[in-house]
Amino acid sequence: MKGLILAGGAGTRLRPITHTSAKQLVPVANKPILYYGIEDMAAAGIREIGIIVGDTADEIRAAVGDGARFGVRVTYLPQEAPLGLAHCVLIAHEFLGDDDFVMYLGDNMLQQGLVEFVDRFTATRAAEGDRAPAAQILLAKVEDPRQFGVAEVTGSGEVVRLVEKPEHPPSDLALVGVYLFDPTIHEAVRAIQPSPRGELEITDAIQWLLDHGHRVVHEVLQGWWIDTGKKDPLLESNRYILETLEPENHGTVDDASSIEGRVVIQPGAVITNSRVRGPSIVGPGTVVTNSYVGPFTSIGADCTITDAELDHSVVLDRARIVGVAGIADSLVGRDVEVTRSGSRPRALRLMLGDHSKIDLE
Ligand code: G1P
Repeated sequence: MKGLILAGGAGTRLRPITHTSAKQLVPVANKPILYYGIEDMAAAGIREIGIIVGDTADEIRAAVGDGARFGVRVTYLPQEAPLGLAHCVLIAHEFLGDDDFVMYLGDNMLQQGLVEFVDRFTATRAAEGDRAPAAQILLAKVEDPRQFGVAEVTGSGEVVRLVEKPEHPPSDLALVGVYLFDPTIHEAVRAIQPSPRGELEITDAIQWLLDHGHRVVHEVLQGWWIDTGKKDPLLESNRYILETLEPENHGTVDDASSIEGRVVIQPGAVITNSRVRGPSIVGPGTVVTNSYVGPFTSIGADCTITDAELDHSVVLDRARIVGVAGIADSLVGRDVEVTRSGSRPRALRLMLGDHSKIDLE
């Protein structure tokens, strides 16, 4: 079994962060989102992973390398334009050959990992011979299925019909960004036509399998699943992951500081006269002085947090937050400065990148 990770998307809903950085590399609990998917694949026994890359190819290559540190071998597959998930399968054909594979959207995160999902497909395919399913999909109950691919299923686990972003959803079961396929899918992606949004939809390719007499089975996801492509879902996955970390202190904390609960302090971090409440993580080389870092906060590497108070936030490397309290539910990019100069007249003096968003108290 091979792995195919889709990391070509532009990330327009995470601008301005994605003007300078790939959305799959935004960190959650100080680790790029993409790493979680690669680690899940490695844990499921997958050793060969193809990563579809687009405009941010260089950055993704720099971050992931040849995959050795994850115990896998990575092949990069450039996609010239974001032409859809099924288009990714089309261009990955040579890499995938005749192997079964798991396809994973690089900005998705899921609690349960891939081990059981992959094991079940391998076992069913071995046991059922000619009647074996050509695909296995993962579904999750969602509040507004109209934003997703939606499945109609039977009680016995068979999938009857799939529709992409339907106006009148046949169920509340959305397609999660994880799919298992046998090589029949290559025929399907060649046969379908682009959707109204101009993309080759994997949902349509799976429907093609059904229309041509192939079996598609499903599993309903236990635990959380998040498409991290927007700020609030990203902060939500940050919250979930922080709750799973074991407290560790590799930095320096003075006697005037208090560290409460599940807090990870990475090497070289210095905490002085401050209160840090977990779950949270303070990155390597970051200096926190006279401040409060509240729950569900990830602070990246080499940041400066002075006379500040923040919680429920993700702060990327080298940001400086000085003299500002009440920062919450925020995503702060690399090298960003949020400071208070105290100069008169009292005013907000902003220099914001394109597509920045500010919500004043
Ligand atoms: C894609 C798929 C959709 C699926 C979703 C999961 O949507 O087309 O079927 O439910 O991923 O995140 P997109 O993110 O391209 O709108």
